[in-house]
Amino acid sequence: MTNRGSNFYDHNDVFSQYTSLRERPENANDTLEKPVMMDLLGDVRGKAILDLGCGGAQFGVDLLQEGCSFYHGIDGSKNMIDLAKQQIKHESITLERVDLEEWNPPVAQYDLVVSRLVFHYLEDLHTIFDRIHTALKPGGTIIFSVEHPVITSTLQPAGLRTSWVVDDYFSMGYRTQQWLGGSVEKYHRTLEEYFQLLQGSSFTVESLKESSPRREFFLSDETFERRKRIPLFLFLKATKKDVASNC
Ligand SMILES: C[S@@+](CC[C@H](N)C(=O)[O-])C[C@H]1O[C@@H](n2cnc3c(N)ncnc32)[C@H](O)[C@@H]1O
Repeated sequence: MTNRGSNFYDHNDVFSQYTSLRERPENANDTLEKPVMMDLLGDVRGKAILDLGCGGAQFGVDLLQEGCSFYHGIDGSKNMIDLAKQQIKHESITLERVDLEEWNPPVAQYDLVVSRLVFHYLEDLHTIFDRIHTALKPGGTIIFSVEHPVITSTLQPAGLRTSWVVDDYFSMGYRTQQWLGGSVEKYHRTLEEYFQLLQGSSFTVESLKESSPRREFFLSDETFERRKRIPLFLFLKATKKDVASNC
């Protein structure tokens, strides 16, 4: 059976494979994704932060260590939220199980909204970006990572690959991947589409990055060289435009 969004992570076999993958040395999240996210974040001291699709919320711990004033993590997966609640006890963290499709944003509550490797599960990103716009304070920022469109357009089974076939790049929509012993749907959209969606929801794009590998984050030359072959992740950082300035 194919799964969408957080349902996938609520299969216990998938969930345990996912947590093992994240603990592997030289995993792509720690070597490629996290370094760029941390660069894009800048100074978080005193900021109220919302993390959409927070998973086990380890990022919340990192952000509080960096001095953020408040962290709110939401995720649709019971397994993920249970894990986050077991691991993290802190007075400035709140964790909530909510599907992003059902999420009702508070008005002007956060300085920063982050989301790591979640938006490629969502079909209606335009509505989510509008809700993020509502939830941000004036001048607030959104920073997110997704699987790179080159990857969501290929979606071969996971494993050590030697070639990639990018096809139907401009046909956007759900594609099925066999991953972590299960079957999951990921929504392919082009790089241009991510950019346009942000602009259409009244954000000004500040930065775009593609997980270019940096030697200092790898243990071996072999993995470093392999990671130079294809971009795994795409990152965008954008600032909330004052809607009045659109006129
Ligand atoms: C690859 S994991 C990333 C978790 C975390 N952001 C991290 O980087 O460690 C993707 C997460 O997105 C969540 N997710 C996917 N679709 C969702 C949806 N529609 N609503 C809420 N959460 C969703 C999943 O439950 C899962 O925790």
